[in-house]
Amino acid sequence: MAKSKSKTIFVCQNCGAQRPRYEGRCSDCGEWNTYVEEKIASGPAPAAGDRSWLRADAPKGQALFTLDQNPAEQNLKRWSTGMAELDRVLGGGLVRGGFVLLGGAPGIGKSTLLMQMAGGLAGGAEKIVYVSAEESVEQTAHRAQRLGVRAANVAIVSEARMESILSLCDSERPDVLIVDSIQTVYLEGVDSAPGSVSQVRESAAQLLTLAKARGVSVFLIGHITKEGSIAGPKVLEHMVDCVLSFEGESTQQFRLLRALKNRFGAAHELGVFEMAGLGLREVANPSELFLEEKRDSNLGSAVYASVEGTRPLLCEIQALTVASPMANPRRTTLGVSQTRVHMLLAVLERHLEIQLSNQDVYVNVVGGLDLEDPSSDLAVVAALLSTEGRQELPPKCVFFGEVGLTGEVRATGFAEQRIREAQKLGFRHVFLPASNQKFLKALVEDSPLKFHWIRNLREFPGILFSDKRK
Ligand code: TYD
Ligand code: MG
Repeated sequence: MAKSKSKTIFVCQNCGAQRPRYEGRCSDCGEWNTYVEEKIASGPAPAAGDRSWLRADAPKGQALFTLDQNPAEQNLKRWSTGMAELDRVLGGGLVRGGFVLLGGAPGIGKSTLLMQMAGGLAGGAEKIVYVSAEESVEQTAHRAQRLGVRAANVAIVSEARMESILSLCDSERPDVLIVDSIQTVYLEGVDSAPGSVSQVRESAAQLLTLAKARGVSVFLIGHITKEGSIAGPKVLEHMVDCVLSFEGESTQQFRLLRALKNRFGAAHELGVFEMAGLGLREVANPSELFLEEKRDSNLGSAVYASVEGTRPLLCEIQALTVASPMANPRRTTLGVSQTRVHMLLAVLERHLEIQLSNQDVYVNVVGGLDLEDPSSDLAVVAALLSTEGRQELPPKCVFFGEVGLTGEVRATGFAEQRIREAQKLGFRHVFLPASNQKFLKALVEDSPLKFHWIRNLREFPGILFSDKRK
């Protein structure tokens, strides 16, 4: 049998890949200079054919959960966080025993959000412990006071040693544990620096046990690297039930909370907050916020009816084309994929004979939203047609629909939600894929909106700029 010994390996700090030798460039994720030497303690490996380990850890006396039972009665309970936006992103409140990772750039408001959440949970959960490994009790208490969090069942602790945090959980038995942040806590038993892959992985594994075996809901704060991924290994993202990402421009007031992964609800769910003098304020109607700056001019600016998660959201897409002095004109996009814009430009050139190959093209989604759904295509094309032809788009129009390579406009999901949101906000015209028509008969009949069904991009400019339309 192999002896227990400690050996060192090299671990990529970006993706968690392990190598026996140093590598300048990680052959898994392609990042440079990410390998760090770490010690691992390896236990004895079971000999081939030895099946004793199989029995050793078999759950004792634990009944199997058969599916005739109601999970709500079996501890799969949810608490409201006191913030409807956060509840929705979590899939309807915080699940008991859920393990949630909240990622975001420094200063974006992660600590603020979770402190406010602690205050909101105080009404439902019995005991909430907020562990700060970054700030003193005094600093944290002052912030709580500013945020108006005052509750006897919310406690704050300043501690970075995981062993102490775990023994504290043993004695205090909290319902909810908040750890701020995973990069600053450390296990004394692990021989590498806080924030290294081993520390992050081992600390998270301890917290996972706490969540799953004891039913403590654990919230972990994680800083993100400048590339936008959560520092530390991907392995962390696999361990947790939910990955939430808190985004926004630090110069702007509003913050977007997005579920990147959620075992208890819809992924890509979006919550919108505003950073105010006294903490984060929920934005109940974000479409209004995103369209706030949209004034009368519709030159190169189209409104896209988006659906983020389960929530409809209207936002403004702007485009600008200008003659380029360069041999390779620029294609700059913010909020939409550059590849898709390249594709749309190719489609415009082939099917509408619009030459943009000597023009710089800029496309921008106002408000810092990142759109992933290709159904923004039609709005991007509308904005491009408008700026290119120096022609204002008609007022009170929204657009959605994916464009294919043959110029066809393809059916889109959630059409009904998009249309209802547009109607709620006082829009009058909807430009949408013709193939959605057969599913929308009932809605169309008693809607005050005017629908413009687009089959192919070739017919789009004619319908869009037609004088008869009004
Ligand atoms: P914080 O929650 O500390 O960010 P993180 O934990 O993600 O690093 O929030 C930091 C920023 O939020 C800071 O720049 C100040 C701002 N802020 C407000 O504007 N209002 C407030 O009430 C609070 C608490 C913070
Ligand atoms: Mg913080």
